[in-house]
Amino acid sequence: VTPTVGIVGGGQLARMLLPAAARLDLAVTLLADPSDSAVPFCRDVVPGIPDAQGLRRLAERCEVMTVEHELVDLEVLAELQAAGTEVRPSPAALGVAVDKVRQHELLGDAGVPTAPWAVATTSGEIDAFAIDHGWSLVLKRPRGGYDGRGVFVVSDREQAAAVLTEVAGPLLVEPALPIECELAVLVARRPGGELVVYDPAETVQADGMCREVLLPAPIDAALAAEARDVARTAAMTVGSVGVLSVELFVVDGHVVLNELAARPHNGGHPTIEGAVTSQFENHLRAVADLPLGNPAVRAPTAMVNVVGEARDPRERLAVALEIDDVAIHLYGKAYRRGRKLGHVTAVGPDLSQARDRAGRAAALLMRGSAG
Ligand SMILES: Nc1ncnc2c1ncn2[C@@H]1O[C@H](COP(=O)(O)OP(=O)(O)O)[C@@H](O)[C@H]1O
Ligand SMILES: [Mg+2]
Repeated sequence: VTPTVGIVGGGQLARMLLPAAARLDLAVTLLADPSDSAVPFCRDVVPGIPDAQGLRRLAERCEVMTVEHELVDLEVLAELQAAGTEVRPSPAALGVAVDKVRQHELLGDAGVPTAPWAVATTSGEIDAFAIDHGWSLVLKRPRGGYDGRGVFVVSDREQAAAVLTEVAGPLLVEPALPIECELAVLVARRPGGELVVYDPAETVQADGMCREVLLPAPIDAALAAEARDVARTAAMTVGSVGVLSVELFVVDGHVVLNELAARPHNGGHPTIEGAVTSQFENHLRAVADLPLGNPAVRAPTAMVNVVGEARDPRERLAVALEIDDVAIHLYGKAYRRGRKLGHVTAVGPDLSQARDRAGRAAALLMRGSAG
């Protein structure tokens, strides 16, 4: 008998885990706010937030716990694990995945290539880094950022000082890198260590937010192999269980670490239609300790995010559905400008035609016209 899986969080990642759970007849309980996007589709919901009380109530209702976001009290998770709930990924692995500084320390020591980096709490430390590496620099909040919130590009010491004042805490400092492209490589890993590595996907960002994903990334085989090796090393080093998403930069023809997420990832959404086994199904298989599915890409696949623009994409659904052979995903989230509200995926026959179809449907949803 398979375990009941408790998911901390009820956002779009939880919502996309549910169809995979339904197919395998895995029982799922969510810890979520009643207004969250996954809640209408899950029979068993513990209403609440992921504080000590919420996590304990979820633990009473499940055998295995996993997370769909990173704002979770890791000490409470560790207590629950000690008391007998399986927490996958483990609180220790989550502790690395939620902290960009710890990722750089741990993976750097394991031989994963990183760009030059430092931790700074004062202007003097940032200046010293700039003397070695030049301006501009990228300053990052080690924790809690997403979609580029918490990432600041600064071109001189005045701008850096302003960020220090605003953030008030240690910052990860990196050079502003001449990035050729960005990759996301997903690894699904079971508790015993069995793992599968997906083909690298190219993620295209604007203003720090992912806008498009191409699977497989249009890169040569040697670079793809390098990216997969780094991702495998990261998963083994972190000891992740479930999906670990490894974000990489390509600089001078080689990969360097950007950051990790110990959960399914925007860069993995094309695997729903484009891979033999989706990231969501493999995440559940891994946390339930079931055999992992084949991660192979079926055909070149493109995904375009639906980000809030002039109007609510729900108003445009009927028009967008006129585009043939695309998969429209709307997350059921309240419309707001600049917010990720859904995505569109198209599979084959090649990346450029898939990109074109997905892009047209996404444009209709966002703007009402296909431009
Ligand atoms: N050192 C850097 N040089 C150039 N661009 C960067 C650098 N670090 C981050 N970026 C850009 O900002 C985006 C968001 O940064 P990331 O660290 O992934 O933060 P988040 O947690 O918000 O995803 C990256 O995907 C990349 O496009
Ligand atoms: Mg990122």
